[in-house]
Amino acid sequence: MKLTMFTTLAAAVSVAVAGAAAANEDAVLEIDGETFVTKTEAPAYLDNLSEIYSGWVFRSDETQQLQLDDFENPAFVFIDSAIDMYSKVDGTEGKSCASCHEDVSEFKGLQASMPRVNADGKLETLTEIVNRMRTDYMGAEPWKWSGTEMSAMTALIGLQSRGMPVNVSIDGPAKPFWEKGKELYYTRVGQLDLSCANCHEDNYDTMIRADHLSQGQINGFPNYRLKNAKINTVQGRFKGCMSNVRAEPYKEGSDEFKALELYVASRGNGLSVETPSVRN
Ligand code: HEC
Ligand code: HEC
Repeated sequence: MKLTMFTTLAAAVSVAVAGAAAANEDAVLEIDGETFVTKTEAPAYLDNLSEIYSGWVFRSDETQQLQLDDFENPAFVFIDSAIDMYSKVDGTEGKSCASCHEDVSEFKGLQASMPRVNADGKLETLTEIVNRMRTDYMGAEPWKWSGTEMSAMTALIGLQSRGMPVNVSIDGPAKPFWEKGKELYYTRVGQLDLSCANCHEDNYDTMIRADHLSQGQINGFPNYRLKNAKINTVQGRFKGCMSNVRAEPYKEGSDEFKALELYVASRGNGLSVETPSVRN
């Protein structure tokens, strides 16, 4: 089965899939003396994986290094800009985030549980919470989903949970959203007729073009990519992967991508939050 998949994949993307590339499983992600969980037992609801790995494990030594030290991590330029925005008054109410939330550290733990179902029974992402604050409490314009401001602000809020285990809820009111996300994850799409699982579950730890395929985990998002030198959002990344298989991507903020975000987050339950991670 796995062999057939290699061939299909290689033919589909017209590249040699070079076979096992052996992730550096011994590498240790340690930041400021804190050791991160980059490899652990898969949650019981993942039928086809016994272990889950952070995308960090599959990156080159050079890329890995950048994440070990916040002074080297290019994401921190954007984090700094978010710190400034946090106390900047915007909108008709004359308020900033800091007017109501004195210190951003109050959001410690939030990222580890996002997205989640809110009091109205709707699945809510951190991005949507921030925009709800802006429109409802500040009288300010919403930010673009993957724009510079939003990606930096969600990275700053995510950073407060760095090192904590991802622990999104998949039961109770989250269940139907999770089921929908799971279905999307296994649905083949695009001209190449590939599902997320075909690459990130069936073929992780192989080379696809010059890229070492990971499990497509989102524990490090929003993250900095060397490729585009900016902070990237989860749903922005999903769009990219869908475009690569020549599918029409869902829209950022769509019910589909939100459900997929919950499902993919749950595939990483137990890994450490790495926000803001560095990837190529
Ligand atoms: C006028 C006061 C006010 C302002 C300004 C405000 N917030 Fe809030 N914020 C709240 C209240 C009240 C809640 C809880 C109720 C809710 O979710 O609506 C909240 C909830 C949140 C949460 C969810 C916390 C959790 O643990 O559930 C986040 C994240 C957040 N705010 C971030 C921000 C950011 C970032 C800004 C600036 C862009 C901001 N807020 C501006 C009042 C405010
Ligand atoms: C043709 C194979 C392929 C398919 C299909 C695919 N991806 Fe990817 N994806 C990649 C490659 C290659 C990368 C870059 C290397 C890596 O991080 O795995 C990547 C990266 C990612 C990342 C970034 C991981 C990190 O650590 O930063 C996420 C998240 C992701 N993919 C999610 C998805 C989702 C969700 C789907 C389905 C909608 C999907 N991918 C479909 C090939 C694919």
